[in-house]
Amino acid sequence: MKPSTLVYTVVGLLSPIATSAIELNVDDPESIKSATKIVAAGVRDWYTGDRVGDTPGNLPDPYYWWLCGAMFGSFIDYWYYTGDDSYNTITTQAMVHQIGTPQAFMPPNQTSTLGNDDQAFWGITAMSAAENKFPDAEGQMSWLSLVIAVFNTQVPRWNTRTCGGGLNWQIFTFNNGYDYKNTISNGALFNIAARLAKYTGNSTYSEWAVKAYDWELSVGLISQDYHFYDGTTERKNCTEVNHIQWTYNAGIHMSGAAAMWNMSETAGDTTQAALWRGRLEGIIKATDVFFSADGTPNVMIEVACERNGLCDHDQRSFKAYLSRWMGYTMLTAPWTRESIMPRLRASAVAAAKQCGPGKGGCGLRWWQGGVNDGEVGIGEQMSALEVMQNLLVDQVSGPVGEQTGGISKNDPTAGSDGGNLVIEHDPITTADRAGAGILTALVLAFLFGGGWWLITGD
Ligand SMILES: *[C@@H]1O[C@H](CO)[C@@H](O)[C@H](O)[C@H]1NC(C)=O
Ligand SMILES: *[C@@H]1O[C@H](CO)[C@@H](O)[C@H](O)[C@H]1NC(C)=O
Ligand SMILES: *[C@@H]1O[C@H](CO)[C@@H](O)[C@H](O)[C@H]1NC(C)=O
Ligand SMILES: *[C@@H]1O[C@H](CO)[C@@H](O)[C@H](O)[C@H]1NC(C)=O
Repeated sequence: MKPSTLVYTVVGLLSPIATSAIELNVDDPESIKSATKIVAAGVRDWYTGDRVGDTPGNLPDPYYWWLCGAMFGSFIDYWYYTGDDSYNTITTQAMVHQIGTPQAFMPPNQTSTLGNDDQAFWGITAMSAAENKFPDAEGQMSWLSLVIAVFNTQVPRWNTRTCGGGLNWQIFTFNNGYDYKNTISNGALFNIAARLAKYTGNSTYSEWAVKAYDWELSVGLISQDYHFYDGTTERKNCTEVNHIQWTYNAGIHMSGAAAMWNMSETAGDTTQAALWRGRLEGIIKATDVFFSADGTPNVMIEVACERNGLCDHDQRSFKAYLSRWMGYTMLTAPWTRESIMPRLRASAVAAAKQCGPGKGGCGLRWWQGGVNDGEVGIGEQMSALEVMQNLLVDQVSGPVGEQTGGISKNDPTAGSDGGNLVIEHDPITTADRAGAGILTALVLAFLFGGGWWLITGD
């Protein structure tokens, strides 16, 4: 993921912008399914990775690799909620193609920008696959072991040399942004750990979920009233926080907290259940900031960038994840429906008005009312898809676990083919950057074999 500085991006797309709104009756599952079918086809139109000569698991420029991983997460949920398997084949193909080396969604092609958050978004897609019983790919690592591999490769990167802990944003020290400890990377570790704990019952995962959450609290990435800020730099030992708020940071913690509550409640651990229930209530309440008050109450807005017109390509997709994780939260903590569902419904109705068929089908600023606002792209398309399909929570039984119908194979050693080689952690000064770079390059050369050229330039 790119830094969350607000950079104006021109959305110079040639696709025709739809002007006819989609019919959506939120009380009728068939209407929701028809609407999502149209929007899902628009998402599909952006993807070219399955074409001859193209690379499965990549979107065309200007879209980054992580976003493609996130898109397949939307398709897995689309299949789960609607039963339409139109996109299952391209999903499996892409996920298998991107397993990488080590086998943990670390493809060498992405090394120059690979963040813990990027890797995690693919891991989260594999987690949804396991939870939704999306069939494992024959002869390949199971979806569950891929998530475990992401976890097992991230844990050794936990960096206590600065800030008392936390994951750095970037995986490799030589990449720009290594010194930033961001909320989405740590929130994703929290989310993955919580869901793995719920799925497997293995306490190693719940311990790490607690550790990641507590660390974020300790440096103020999570405020006392449950707002989630973007990140903090280790150069100042995490004493200064970038306070910008994004929907996906709230969502990734909301669903992780829901998994933690569900697990504690199921185990009859009333103390932990009360703790996580309180946190989950607080997180849901604090999402007020993302629901527009003016004219269109309860309609989701990426508040940091939609009014000022500064949303970049990544940020245009963030509402997809808050929507997705509101759905997950309702499935695993059913008492949250009363507060979540009205917002999801109002947002879906507003999104449908901005949506029509085709690649440029859906606009960005749902709260504006009226037709497609002309801001179109894969992010806008995914956000509209997720906000609609997550209305279908009553059509499914919710995420499974190993003891509750799960079918994905568990390999607790996954990710040990290189992930435990800890990449050099020292905070880098300009003077020793070259040294650290070389050291890391040696580790990489070992990890990736013939991948030396990736580091020395292209
Ligand atoms: C890496 O890039 C090459 C060249 O574009 C491509 O053939 C290959 O499929 C890519 N691998 C992955 C995992 O994306
Ligand atoms: C950095 O922050 C951690 C955790 O807050 C603290 O334990 C440590 O002493 C700090 N280090 C310095 C050099 O201030
Ligand atoms: C926990 O989540 C599952 C779905 O994963 C759901 O079926 C179950 O009802 C939830 N448990 C509680 C106590 O709400
Ligand atoms: C629990 O998870 C950890 C981390 O993946 C793994 O090392 C350990 O073997 C697992 N324990 C069991 C009993 O599967």
